[in-house]
Amino acid sequence: MSTFQSFPSNFLWGAATASYQIEGAWNEDGKGESIWDRFTHTPGHVFEGHTGDVACDHYHRWPQDIELMKSLGLRAYRFSIGWPRILPEGRGRVNQPGLDFYSRLVDGLLAADITPFVTLYHWDLPQTLQDAGGWPARATAEAFVEYAGVVSAALGDRVKNWITHNEPWCISFLSHMLGIHAPGVRDTNAALRAAHHVLLSHGWAVPVIRANSPGAEVGITLNLEWKDAASHSAADLDAMRASDNLSNRWFLDPLYGRHYPADGVADFANALPNGLDFVEPGDMAAIAVPTDFLGLNYYTRAVNRAEVDDNLPQVIFPDRPRTEMGWEEYPEGLYGLLNRLHFDYRPPKLYITENGASFGNGPDADGRVADTRRLNYLRDHFSVAHRAIGNGVPLAGYFVWSLMDNFEWAEGYRQRFGIVWVDYETQQRIPKDSALWYRDVIAHNGFSTVNGFPTVNGFPTVNGSEAQPA
Ligand code: FCB
Repeated sequence: MSTFQSFPSNFLWGAATASYQIEGAWNEDGKGESIWDRFTHTPGHVFEGHTGDVACDHYHRWPQDIELMKSLGLRAYRFSIGWPRILPEGRGRVNQPGLDFYSRLVDGLLAADITPFVTLYHWDLPQTLQDAGGWPARATAEAFVEYAGVVSAALGDRVKNWITHNEPWCISFLSHMLGIHAPGVRDTNAALRAAHHVLLSHGWAVPVIRANSPGAEVGITLNLEWKDAASHSAADLDAMRASDNLSNRWFLDPLYGRHYPADGVADFANALPNGLDFVEPGDMAAIAVPTDFLGLNYYTRAVNRAEVDDNLPQVIFPDRPRTEMGWEEYPEGLYGLLNRLHFDYRPPKLYITENGASFGNGPDADGRVADTRRLNYLRDHFSVAHRAIGNGVPLAGYFVWSLMDNFEWAEGYRQRFGIVWVDYETQQRIPKDSALWYRDVIAHNGFSTVNGFPTVNGFPTVNGSEAQPA
C-alpha cells in the first residue's frame, strides 16, 4: 500500500555550507588571516596539503549559486560568515567590503525567496585572536560579542534566523584536545576552557543579536552523536556514559541550565587541577539564556567499548554500512536524538542544521551523477525525522549537508558531501541524483512509501537495499 509521508506545511527544506569550505578568496577585499588559512598553509595538517584558498570560488560565483539553489527549490539556506572578512584583526576596525559581500548575498537570497540562516562562527577565527590566546582565553568570548554585534547590526533588518556557533565540540575538543582541526592543540585543559568560552560567548551574544534584529530567532548548533555500548557489561556501559558526557551533555546541560555534568567533571579531574576555575560568577546563567531553537547536526552514532582488546575487531560492528568518512549509517540515531532532546531538554523548536553523507560518485559519460547511496541515506534520515514529528518533536526544518562538494577540513577535497558535484578544475556544478530527488521532495513537501518503505522514482526499497530505478 502506498502512503505519502507529508511534512508540516511550513517545513523549511534547506541546504547548508560554511564560509571557509566554499568561499575561497582567502586574501581578497581586505579579509584578514584566519586560523584555517594558517593551518592549511602549514604543511602536515590537511590531506595532501589541500587549502581553502579557492575552494568552490563561491565568493565570486554566489549569484550562480543562488540560481542553483532556486533550481532545486530550496526554501532556506544556511551559510556562515567569515569573521576575518568583517573584522580582519578580530576586533576594532570593520572591513566594509566584507560586510557588503554578505549583504549582497542576503539580498540575493531574499529576492529568490530563500530564507537565510546565518551561522556566525563556523571555525574561521581571526589569526590575531588566536595569537592572543584563542578560545582558551576569555577575551575571545568578548571579541565574539563585538563581532556578533557588528554583523547583526548590518544584516539584522533582513536576516531573522541566527545561529551563534557551529558545533562547540569541534571548536573545543576536536581542535584543542585531539588537535585534528585548527589550531591543532593537544591539551584537554585548553579544550575545556575553549568549550566554556564558546558557550559563554553564545550566551552573551544572544541578547545583542536580539536587540539588533527585532523579531529574530536565535539558537546554537550542536553536533550530537547517538551513543550505544558494545555490550551490557558495566565497563562498556560506563564507556558509553563517558562518551555521552564528552560529546553531548558537556554542551547540552549548561545550555539548558543544568551546569556542567558532575560525572563529566569527575572524568576530567586530571585535566582540571584547579577544578572549573574558568567559570566566573554569572557565567552559567549567561550560558543558559533562553533560545528560540536548537540546531542539531547529525551524522552517525558511536558504539563504545571500555578497552580495545586486540582479539576484537578494531571497528565495532564492522558489518554495518559506512560512508566514505567511515561513519556508520545509522538513521535510528537521529530518531533517538530528536526524541531525547524533546523529552529531556525541551527546546521550543528544533532544526536539523546538518545531515548528509560523503560518497565520491562523479559524473558518468552522460554527465549524470548517480549517487544512489547518498539519496538512500537522506531518504532514510528524512523518514525517521518524519516519525519523530509524529511523536510531537517540534522539528521545523532540515538542512542537508551540503549544498555542494567543498573543502572538508582535515580531509581536504577527497571527501565529497555535496548533493551538487563540483569540478574543482572548471568550477562547474552538476546536481547529483540526490539533489534532483531532493528537489522533488521539496516540491511535494514529502515523499511516498510503499508498505511502510520509502520509494525512489516510485520503486519501493526494502530495509535499506537499493531501489531499482528504470
Ligand atoms: C560537520 C561540520 C561541517 C562538515 C560536516 C561533514 O562537523 O560542521 O562543516 O564538515 O561535518
